[in-house]
Amino acid sequence: MQNFQHKAFDELFDLSGKIAIVTGGANGIGKATALRLAEAGANIAIADLKIEDAQAAVKDIEALGVKALAIECNILKDDDLVAMVDKVVAEFGTVNVLINNAGGGGGGRENPTKISVDDIRRDFELNVFSGWRLCQLCVPYMKESGYGSIVFTTSMSSINKSPNMSGYGGSKAAVNHMVANLTHDFGPEVRINAVGPGATRTAALESVLTPEIEERMLSHTPIKRLGEADDIAGAMLYFAAPISEWVSGQTLFVNGGGVQTLD
Ligand SMILES: NC(=O)c1ccc[n+]([C@@H]2O[C@H](COP(=O)([O-])OP(=O)(O)OC[C@H]3O[C@@H](n4cnc5c(N)ncnc54)[C@H](O)[C@@H]3O)[C@@H](O)[C@H]2O)c1
Repeated sequence: MQNFQHKAFDELFDLSGKIAIVTGGANGIGKATALRLAEAGANIAIADLKIEDAQAAVKDIEALGVKALAIECNILKDDDLVAMVDKVVAEFGTVNVLINNAGGGGGGRENPTKISVDDIRRDFELNVFSGWRLCQLCVPYMKESGYGSIVFTTSMSSINKSPNMSGYGGSKAAVNHMVANLTHDFGPEVRINAVGPGATRTAALESVLTPEIEERMLSHTPIKRLGEADDIAGAMLYFAAPISEWVSGQTLFVNGGGVQTLD
């Protein structure tokens, strides 16, 4: 049983000395999150396919006065996941925060008459299985250390209904429900939540965005702009930090109050 203790204001976002893994942390939402966690004092491991981008992110993180490590890792490969966690523990001693952020699919390209079951399997491997496996690998360290917070990057696609998005949308919906269940397995030392971005300006979004799509998106968005990676990173920091110590199993959508779809 954990006891509640009132915290001073400056403890609420304090991650000093904590160890955080950010998958897909070399760019976009993952990089913005890694920088925010580092500003809060966490040492960071960036696990990403793109090792040069990860190394560049490490330089930016170290400039904030914390330690950082770039690890080449394809989250689709189990050996990479195991080796990555082993490396983080060898370097830093434990894992306290896991940001399961790398993912993908969708983009309005999932026409069921044109794609195969392997395409759908890949969505689930990217967005669901890899993150589940990393939870399995990291939770023992979190429990042992007494502080653990896991955050998945899900998506507004997990609740939107759109054509050609069934694999991506279905896999991100699975993330929300998986998180709501896993909290019952991982408490009390470890919390687990998800952040669901709306359309957020990253390389992934720019590959599908046109001025017409953007205009349509903004017509359904009360806060009249698209998201920036920093908007999402703020919610990630909230879930990673002690301020949310009694929040678990939740999905928070960060979407300007609206709905942005490609159709
Ligand atoms: N940008 C959006 O509008 C948006 C909206 C909803 C959800 N998301 C989700 O946010 C997450 C991050 O997306 P982003 O927009 O920041 O993308 P991004 O393309 O800007 O960055 C993604 C990073 O993940 C890395 N990556 C990709 N596949 C990987 C793999 N197999 N193994 C390890 N690293 C890998 C890339 O190298 C890159 O550094 C994804 O899960 C995505 O589904 C994004």
